[in-house]
Amino acid sequence: MIELKNVSKRFRKGDEVVEAVGGIELGIRRREIVAVIGPSGCGKSTLLNMIAGLYPPSGGRVIYNGKVIDDVNTSVAYMTQKDNLLPWRTVRDNVALPLEIAGLRRAEREERADRVLEHVGLTGFEKRYSSELSGGMRKRACLARMLLQGAESLLLDEPFAALDAQLKLVMHGLLLRLASEASQTVVLVTHDLMEAVTLADRVVVCTHRPAMIALEQAIDLPRPRDVINVRFTNRFRELYDMIWDCLRLEYHEELI
Ligand SMILES: Nc1ncnc2c1ncn2[C@@H]1O[C@H](COP(=O)(O)OP(=O)(O)OP(=O)(O)O)[C@@H](O)[C@H]1O
Ligand SMILES: [Mg+2]
Repeated sequence: MIELKNVSKRFRKGDEVVEAVGGIELGIRRREIVAVIGPSGCGKSTLLNMIAGLYPPSGGRVIYNGKVIDDVNTSVAYMTQKDNLLPWRTVRDNVALPLEIAGLRRAEREERADRVLEHVGLTGFEKRYSSELSGGMRKRACLARMLLQGAESLLLDEPFAALDAQLKLVMHGLLLRLASEASQTVVLVTHDLMEAVTLADRVVVCTHRPAMIALEQAIDLPRPRDVINVRFTNRFRELYDMIWDCLRLEYHEELI
């Protein structure tokens, strides 16, 4: 469904050139959940920006459903790394924005927004503005808006980074359930290897900049997954250790 064909991206500012992504080949199947992990600044967000059609690649092609992406990809919902709630709208009106664009009546969109806000634990905050929320609450509001959009594919850039460990687990369960119910394809960027192995069908480890693929590891843990108990299984441990062996080297090279 999503094909990256030798995709590279370089940013140029005056004489300075940053090679952010260096020749990535990756195919993502419909309904697959792929987690992308790698050192900070290696090019993960840039990769999502190209799948979303926000940046053109410098080399190679990004193909979505058989068509080269050359404009904003309207089939994906994108939860960016930085939250982009509209400050002049309440939480409810932010979350319901995709339904408003789709032309739904106010009563229906508010009802659906409130239901998804309940899922992410924001009941009682519907009428607040984003400046009145904590960082983790803003992230949850963005997650709610993205889930409500009902897009064919989800691009998530460190969606759970600001949440505490307990809330993360609740959100992991919610994402797995809703993405499975809606048959969505998910590309998830994360720094958290536990999260990657818990959620994904495949984990892709990127090298330090420019991002290339250091390892692709299929996660053959059965579904549906219990996001808490799955991590106590032997297979989880094996997969975690295998990926960590590769990831450790990338972080080491980044830091020396
Ligand atoms: N719009 C831009 N203009 C210029 N350089 C950019 C731009 N976006 C990203 N870069 C550069 O590309 C490189 C990769 O950035 P990117 O945001 O993709 O990293 P990342 O892997 O998402 O990092 P993190 O894990 O810290 O979020 C960095 O060196 C960054 O400075
Ligand atoms: Mg990033």
